[in-house]
Amino acid sequence: MTEDFLTYQAQTTLHPLAMEVSKASGSFIYDQKGQPHLDFVAGVSACSVGHCHPKLVRAIQEQVASYMHVMVYGEYVQSAAVSYTKKLAGLLPAPLNCTYLVNSGTEAMEGAIKLARRVTGRTELIAAHHSYHGNTMGSLSLMGYEDRKTSFRPLIPDVRFIHFNAFIELDLITEKTAAVVLETIQGGAGFIMPNLGYLKAVKERCLSVGALLILDEIQPGFGRTGALFAFEHFDCIPDILVMGKGMAGGLPVGAFVSSKEYMDTLKDKPSLGHITTFGGNPVIASACKATLDILFEEDLIRQSLEKEAHFRKRLQHSKIKEIRGKGLMLAIILETPEQANSLVLHAAKKQLILFWLLFEKRAVRLSPPLTISIEEIDKGCDIILEILDAI
Ligand SMILES: Cc1ncc(COP(=O)(O)O)c(C=O)c1O
Repeated sequence: MTEDFLTYQAQTTLHPLAMEVSKASGSFIYDQKGQPHLDFVAGVSACSVGHCHPKLVRAIQEQVASYMHVMVYGEYVQSAAVSYTKKLAGLLPAPLNCTYLVNSGTEAMEGAIKLARRVTGRTELIAAHHSYHGNTMGSLSLMGYEDRKTSFRPLIPDVRFIHFNAFIELDLITEKTAAVVLETIQGGAGFIMPNLGYLKAVKERCLSVGALLILDEIQPGFGRTGALFAFEHFDCIPDILVMGKGMAGGLPVGAFVSSKEYMDTLKDKPSLGHITTFGGNPVIASACKATLDILFEEDLIRQSLEKEAHFRKRLQHSKIKEIRGKGLMLAIILETPEQANSLVLHAAKKQLILFWLLFEKRAVRLSPPLTISIEEIDKGCDIILEILDAI
């Protein structure tokens, strides 16, 4: 199977981890020999309620048995998507009351960019150095790493960059700016938190020049940081909120949310301003709704802060320079990229799943399912500390 994987399935790196998966349940992924691997990554923050949560599986199965794809997005009234978007509107602050469901995080970002240009009639986009918003041409244009973009130029024009947390650069946002696009917590850059008052200052500057603020919550979203969305910690409501990953508990999804007034611009002049075949798919929407229900019923959002505290208490080691992030969106910062690499690879041998961050090479990601237990955290931390002693 591994040879076929390497031969027939297009690869993204020279050295994929290539574990052969047989099944997954709760906080564990099982390999072909039936060995359990403790999952501290959750499919890169996607499996928010653990693998194959029974309530999530049931919701998917019930919807599959009833109907699957019946029409492109936006034409038929399908209860799973309608009740989910209504529920989301009730949980989000005004004016975030209208949701466009799409198929991935990057598509959600494309939709958000188009919406900002359509609403403002402007073209300029401002993103942050060291940002990551996805890999299609629009979101790639916003990526704050030149070496990842060069081979794919020309990208979309009229994109400028500011440094995240640099208050002094906010006057680069002007009357020409359609939108400022930021990750609420920078992910790939190393789980960088916004400084006190920074996001609020960005929003105020946007308001004063008529630009929109787009916040990308694809990683922190859906409860991972101790709030449903991380912007709730920072006293700053975006004009457009972008989400994905943990939203459907492990099925492919993305969404952008804004005001009904703004969203209505996508349906006229031109009509079909953004379209998608599978966005709002009823099976995915059922999974989104079940995931949201589980997050609240099992009190997982609040618990993520207690679990963060436990990780921080347990992970004390001279080789750990810092633990960044919030809730269960954490990154261990080691002394060198070699140590980080070594920790991930040794952990894999000890059946603990860890992963790198995209750009900060000294970092090791800790983004387990929010359902992880304290005993499982202890078990994984013991393995990490044992490896750090040895490398
Ligand atoms: C902050 C952020 N934005 C956008 C994306 C892109 O999402 P997707 O991979 O679903 O297209 C990701 C994925 O890692 C992300 O972390």
